[in-house]
Amino acid sequence: AVTGEKPPLEILLCAPRGFCAGVVRAIDVVERALALYGAPVYVRHEIVHNKYVVETLKRKGAVFVRELDEVPDSGAPVIFSAHGVAKTVPQNAVSRGLTTIDATCPLVTKVHREAEIHHKRGRHVLLVGHSGHPEVVGTMGQLPKGSITLVEDIEQIDALNPPPEQALAWVTQTTLSIDDTKHIVEALKAKFPGIHGPHKDDICYATTNRQEAVKEVAPRVDALIVVGSSNSSNSQRLREVAERAGCPITRLVLRAEEIDWDAFKDVRRLGLTAGASAPEVLVEEIIDAFAARFDVTVDQVSVTIEDMSFPLPRELRSEAA
Ligand code: F3S
Repeated sequence: AVTGEKPPLEILLCAPRGFCAGVVRAIDVVERALALYGAPVYVRHEIVHNKYVVETLKRKGAVFVRELDEVPDSGAPVIFSAHGVAKTVPQNAVSRGLTTIDATCPLVTKVHREAEIHHKRGRHVLLVGHSGHPEVVGTMGQLPKGSITLVEDIEQIDALNPPPEQALAWVTQTTLSIDDTKHIVEALKAKFPGIHGPHKDDICYATTNRQEAVKEVAPRVDALIVVGSSNSSNSQRLREVAERAGCPITRLVLRAEEIDWDAFKDVRRLGLTAGASAPEVLVEEIIDAFAARFDVTVDQVSVTIEDMSFPLPRELRSEAA
């Protein structure tokens, strides 16, 4: 019997995609800590927002906890995730005598320092970001309660009524939509002309480049898949960017098994990218799954080359030599 030929499918791979320098460093931190201290090492929160990465590290001996009270006084180190933590977290760890290793991305730490400087200069800080995201919890937690206000969208700016003599400043989460943030910041500057802030915003290079690549590819394809976790902020934003660029079918998937194949049966050009916490092996898994059903050709669309890398925390650098 004729089984029928596979339909053709051109995959346009967005570049840059996948792991950013902060994620590479955070995973490295856990692996080095395991090598140095032996298992178990404790990690507060998902080290990066990707279940595959978390499961892989669990198998190597990392134990993921929500809060420090789940970490025993056994001398095993506790690692803080790439998203950063509120000031109280390391303070509590020190008071308990726990060994801590900070895997906070240096670009998140930079935002923490900005917020702190504004606060020291007497400015009330407005943080543009998404409520509940661990990075937002960590950044809010750099300042005393009441010194920082979260702004999630333009509508919330209307409700802001600081006393006229109050100096203001703004900072942002690192993984936001470039376009949304631009509008929010414009609205902030319009309402508060004297507000202090960074030159552009605090969105990191990796978020920027991945969104740019999606903007390039999305208008040229029938569908676009973002490989990433549903709790990954930068991955969610990539799917939204594709949708807003007019791409009719957009999906955020963690693994190939989540693909609803019916939606893709008439697709002849597919865009593919991955969030900053999604490993390349999952991109390959998805290409393989399409190749089992389509006659696949793969082309890469690159908007820029990245060469960013961050040194490990000092305590792992010196002893790992
Ligand atoms: Fe850092 Fe940006 Fe990655 S803030 S962890 S480089 S997504």
